[in-house]
Amino acid sequence: MKAIKLQGFGGTDQLKLEEINKPTIKPDEILVSVKASAINRADIEKRKGNYPSTDFDPILGLEIAGTVEEAGSEAYGWEKGDRVFGLIPSGGYAEYAVLNSKLAMPIPEHLSFDEAAAVPEVFLTAYQTLHWLGELKEGETVLIHAGASGVGTAAIQLAKQAGATVAVTAGSQEKLDFCKSLGADITINYKEEEFADRLADTGADVILDFIGASYWDQNIKTLKTDGRLILIGFLGGTDLDNASIMPLLAKRLHVKGTLLSTRSMDYKARLTADLIDNVLPLLESQDVKPIVDKVFPLTEIAAAHDYMESNKNTGKIVLHVAD
Ligand SMILES: NC(=O)c1ccc[n+]([C@@H]2O[C@H](COP(=O)([O-])OP(=O)(O)OC[C@H]3O[C@@H](n4cnc5c(N)ncnc54)[C@H](OP(=O)(O)O)[C@@H]3O)[C@@H](O)[C@H]2O)c1
Repeated sequence: MKAIKLQGFGGTDQLKLEEINKPTIKPDEILVSVKASAINRADIEKRKGNYPSTDFDPILGLEIAGTVEEAGSEAYGWEKGDRVFGLIPSGGYAEYAVLNSKLAMPIPEHLSFDEAAAVPEVFLTAYQTLHWLGELKEGETVLIHAGASGVGTAAIQLAKQAGATVAVTAGSQEKLDFCKSLGADITINYKEEEFADRLADTGADVILDFIGASYWDQNIKTLKTDGRLILIGFLGGTDLDNASIMPLLAKRLHVKGTLLSTRSMDYKARLTADLIDNVLPLLESQDVKPIVDKVFPLTEIAAAHDYMESNKNTGKIVLHVAD
């Protein structure tokens, strides 16, 4: 099969199209004929060797959409030809990949494979961080940073479905307008104003933060009493200077960090089951939708990585693997 193989840590020149053996499956796994995968920031960090707590992944790609090629004897309910999508630990940039049956979801009828590939990582992350970790309640205010990112666009839609007021930050008016079209109530261009000033009166009960160190002070200032800061990325750095823990005590703040990729299979399976119960129906009814910015063919993987690194995308960058 054809796959993009990472030759070593470094630039996009390390991503090479190669002919390699098809993977084999265990009884509870599914061999998927991959039609589409998608790019994640984690792929970029893994390529560079900056990703926390992982070994070298020769084939990147954390999510796939395709058809069942072969179902293991314990992959109950799945048959050859079924349309399937889900999260995988690695291996998505290839014509075949292995999906654990506990993480497999049926693709809603109206979604193409390219659209379906834009769902698993960002909707699972948004759902987990807003609901499981952020404990977002109806009527609360959530601040979603990088609102036009893949995770951000999923989070805006899920937060609106939960009945929250949604504030977002992004780096251009075009991105903010798009966030508004998805339901964002308050839009803030972080290049033009401090979000803590804009939200001084409103405050936030939950903040979904991909930026990290450079936003710490403003995040802490913005959180209301009993607020929850969920840290899921470090695009703005990891190290804090002169940070005081006093507001954490005074406002009884909760700070939680998370990485979905290093969670146990049991955790991911429970999260997938929750997504099937609570988000798949919203995708089916088209009350929420995958946001695809651009589709690149597998052969243009370097351009797809460059595009993400240039921060141009609104929503997901999809990798089209086969027709
Ligand atoms: N922990 C987890 O389990 C988990 C799971 C999935 C994703 N993530 C993380 O979530 C983040 C979003 O992922 P994604 O795939 O949705 O990303 P994405 O679509 O590539 O979007 C990231 C956006 O962040 C903004 N940004 C970049 N650097 C910034 C900075 N220094 N300050 C402010 N904004 C900045 C840019 O938009 P602007 O134009 O608005 O600046 C950029 O387009 C990534 O950090 C990713 O690693 C974490």
